[in-house]
Amino acid sequence: MSFPASISQFQTLVMSFHGAIVIETVEEERVQALINGAMNDLQIAVFEWSAARGLARSQGNVHNRWQNEYAPPGTQRPQALPDTTDPLDALRSIQDVAFQAIFWLKDFAPHLKDDVVARQLREVIQQFSHNRSTLVISGHSITLPRDIAQEVVYFDLKLPEPDELYQAISEVVRSLKGRIKIELQNDGINALVQAMRGMTLQQARKVVAFAALEDGKLCPEDVKRILQRKAQVLHEDGLLDYIPPEMNPAQLGGFDGLKCWLARARVGFSTQAKAFNLPAPRGILIVGIQGCGKSLAAKTIAREWQMPLLKLDAGRLYDKYVGESEKNFRRAVTLAETMAPAVLWIDEIEKSMGQSSSDADGGLSRRLFGSFLTWLQEKSEAIFVVATANDLSQIPPELLRKGRFDEIFFVDLPDDQERAAILQIHLMRHKQDPRRFDLPLLVQVTDGFSGAEIEQVIITSLYQAIYEKRPVNTDLVVEAVKATVPLSISRREDLHRLRAIAQERFVSVK
Ligand SMILES: Nc1ncnc2c1ncn2[C@@H]1O[C@H](COP(=O)(O)OP(=O)(O)OP(=O)(O)O)[C@@H](O)[C@H]1O
Ligand SMILES: [Mg+2]
Repeated sequence: MSFPASISQFQTLVMSFHGAIVIETVEEERVQALINGAMNDLQIAVFEWSAARGLARSQGNVHNRWQNEYAPPGTQRPQALPDTTDPLDALRSIQDVAFQAIFWLKDFAPHLKDDVVARQLREVIQQFSHNRSTLVISGHSITLPRDIAQEVVYFDLKLPEPDELYQAISEVVRSLKGRIKIELQNDGINALVQAMRGMTLQQARKVVAFAALEDGKLCPEDVKRILQRKAQVLHEDGLLDYIPPEMNPAQLGGFDGLKCWLARARVGFSTQAKAFNLPAPRGILIVGIQGCGKSLAAKTIAREWQMPLLKLDAGRLYDKYVGESEKNFRRAVTLAETMAPAVLWIDEIEKSMGQSSSDADGGLSRRLFGSFLTWLQEKSEAIFVVATANDLSQIPPELLRKGRFDEIFFVDLPDDQERAAILQIHLMRHKQDPRRFDLPLLVQVTDGFSGAEIEQVIITSLYQAIYEKRPVNTDLVVEAVKATVPLSISRREDLHRLRAIAQERFVSVK
């Protein structure tokens, strides 16, 4: 939804007797722009309150935005009413205002822990639903007492649209005029705006100013740097980890079947496919035993496709408050969508959205799973989901039904050929020339080993070699192999069970 559309939707809410509107956002300047934009038209007075300043008339002048850090210094602000910094006093003063107005309360929700403040707020809301004034409560993540939650309406202020970002960037560039060189054409500016999707206006401004001032110019290279900065911003936000293609060195041995499938699926992202109105591939589920390269496969897909990899940390979605976890999930996928085309990786999906925990957590994982399924079904952006799972019995059967994922793959223990490839990858990673080793012998002795176990064996033998002050050789690796009991032996039953179910239902990655 564009910003003007948001403004008119907000106007409708105000006009339709809503006593309180809640906006969850950190972007106060956009709340300000929203309220001003809506109220200038309707000619309704606007007040704002914060614990620091108290209650004051809002500037309400679009040409003099004091919130804007690039506004000229010394911009005047209206005086606050005396003795209104206390939330209770503020609410009482608000009740005394005799004409229709909007009262914007910043970061007010935490004060509602006080019963008297909460009660007073309810009374204000009830009064307002008769006299057409409206409270606007904004803050980062707002949790309201239940009886108040029932009396408010939530307004979803989406992240900035490209045109808002464009405007914010232009403002910064203008303010830096003379100090920097602009080496971007129209295409470059569009790429810059694209790279900033998912950021707030403040973040976008800072990032652009930094990129420009760092080397005195704004050039195509900056787009890359901005993507890196975005990785950091996403990480700080806590729900998604972002790994850009150039920082993703994953190397996967074997998995030929999967690699083949992926090469074909890739055309689904091409402009030609788009021209034919074909939907982009939705995603895959990779099931298999521990340490056999499921996570590595997810990383490899993003690297091969040269797409950003976004890892959804499902554990961090959880919140003790009802509804918050689903909200976190929405926020995470919305952020992911701003990065499209991208690979969204949900590791060990059964742990966060599985079945067993559904009673223990009051159905939270079920609800989260429901949100995920709906999104998977409806998503329009080119986000390719790679979900991985160890334990089939924990996965809700709905997820395994045909049509949810494009394909479900099963990863078994690596065969001879794959073990040879894995051995070589890990020897080379640790600066060893595979030609110095008896590979056929190593392939033979590591029968039943997972990729992770092979990697561990190589590492162990290298430590031993350093300790014995001699070069590592086949014997040392074999020794390490003999000292290891692989999962395929210690957990033979589990493996057989998984294999029996998976082999007939899913496609092998080989
Ligand atoms: N096919 C492979 N090629 C190269 N390395 C591999 C392969 N399989 C596993 N490895 C090595 O084992 C490590 C662990 O693999 P990975 O984390 O991908 O396994 P997983 O199947 O996700 O296991 P888990 O179920 O424990 O999460 C990898 O970091 C990699 O070094
Ligand atoms: Mg894994």
